[in-house]
Amino acid sequence: MTIALVSEIAAEEDDLSVWPASTTRLPHGGLAVGGVSLADIADRFDTPAYVLDEGEVRARCRAYRGTFPDADVLYAAKAFLSRTMVRWVAEEGLGLDVCSAGELELAVTAGFPPDRIVLHGNAKSPHDIECALRLGVGRIVIDSPSEIARLAALVGPHGRQKVMIRVIPGVSAGGHEKIRTGTDGQKFGLSLTDGSAQHAIARLLTQPQLHLVGLRCHIGSQITDVKPYVAALRRMVGLMARVRDTHGLILPELDMGGGHGIAYRPGEPTLDLTALARGLRIELAASCTAAGLEVPRLTIEPGRAVAGPAGVALYRVLAVKNTGDQVFVAVDGGMSDNPRPALYGVRYAPRLVGRHSTVDTRTATVVGRHCEAGDILATDVELPGDIRPGDLLAVPVAGAYQLSMASGYNMVGRPPVVAVDGGTARLLVRRETLDDLRSRDIGE
Ligand code: LLP
Repeated sequence: MTIALVSEIAAEEDDLSVWPASTTRLPHGGLAVGGVSLADIADRFDTPAYVLDEGEVRARCRAYRGTFPDADVLYAAKAFLSRTMVRWVAEEGLGLDVCSAGELELAVTAGFPPDRIVLHGNAKSPHDIECALRLGVGRIVIDSPSEIARLAALVGPHGRQKVMIRVIPGVSAGGHEKIRTGTDGQKFGLSLTDGSAQHAIARLLTQPQLHLVGLRCHIGSQITDVKPYVAALRRMVGLMARVRDTHGLILPELDMGGGHGIAYRPGEPTLDLTALARGLRIELAASCTAAGLEVPRLTIEPGRAVAGPAGVALYRVLAVKNTGDQVFVAVDGGMSDNPRPALYGVRYAPRLVGRHSTVDTRTATVVGRHCEAGDILATDVELPGDIRPGDLLAVPVAGAYQLSMASGYNMVGRPPVVAVDGGTARLLVRRETLDDLRSRDIGE
């Protein structure tokens, strides 16, 4: 191997571009996030553990507010939610998108203003709707025709609830087939193409208890290109113009959903938020002028791009196995705290922290501890050749859709969440213990 190649690989391994902005290098291979050494966090809180950089979450919320000054920005709670996260998001002036009574109750009991919350869901339970009405959420998004009469009945003859309609604009986008929601043939929304959206709007307007304030769409997730958003927006404005022509109703709000893509490994593309803001603004002005409509108030709903890059997962190596020409590095977590590689084939970039190794790297597969061969956290990872049990691995971009999708598989318990900021670490969510698991199991 030439010297140039060695240094190229070393530079790649040392690339911190997908890490929180606060990340710093410490002596002897250490890394600090939010001013706190990751090795110290592992010692103090044990592993696996999730670290969340408060400054990074807040900076990302502020970047959204700054880039979209005339829009409402709702944080999509499904990416990650805890009481403290709710407070940070509220303090930074964002609204909240929830999709269950659970997310809603947690947010409201943590002090989030209910009128800044929107309830989504393709199949809302009676409890979800009862909870939304009782707590006074700002908007409920209608996702199917049967919901209209049901919701109107629950609102009652003297009530009035602001609602929106989830439209399928017929635009395909998203990082994986399981997270593409902009076209027909998937479970969310009402189709613009086959007329279901128009029918639902007509039906909704016969219910005086329901106040239709606008249209929404969410075309998919992990999108790194502005074009599909612009195309969807054009179609949504077209439908707003038809609503005006058919019903004489001018809808004041348009929600273009979330889905803003981020890099999980150095060099991967991200959605350029400035380009998105510009693209949406220009298209909105042009389409509305062409249709003779007043420009509606825009809403966006990012989840991943707020929480994802602020999180780091910490694991301890439990075993290293050489099988043929493969090296398996097994850690003390896995698909129960991060199902994303198994579900969507996502690739992460773990690195050794807390120990400096001068040994050449080897290509390894980082696997979890679960009883399943598909429990793979990362493939083709360059790790030092002397990687061994007891070493600490850190995985950046771990803040979204990992803990929120964590499971009880193999009863290992879900990891804690530790917030870091200004040199201090504090526990936001404690580790799930065997007692927690046992306490639910009440049979003889
Ligand atoms: N708004 C609505 C209506 C949504 O359904 C979603 C995500 C968002 C906003 C936020 O999307 P984001 O900005 O976070 O991409 N579990 C998958 C992602 C599923 C997204 C579901 N809906 C993953 O781990 O990639």
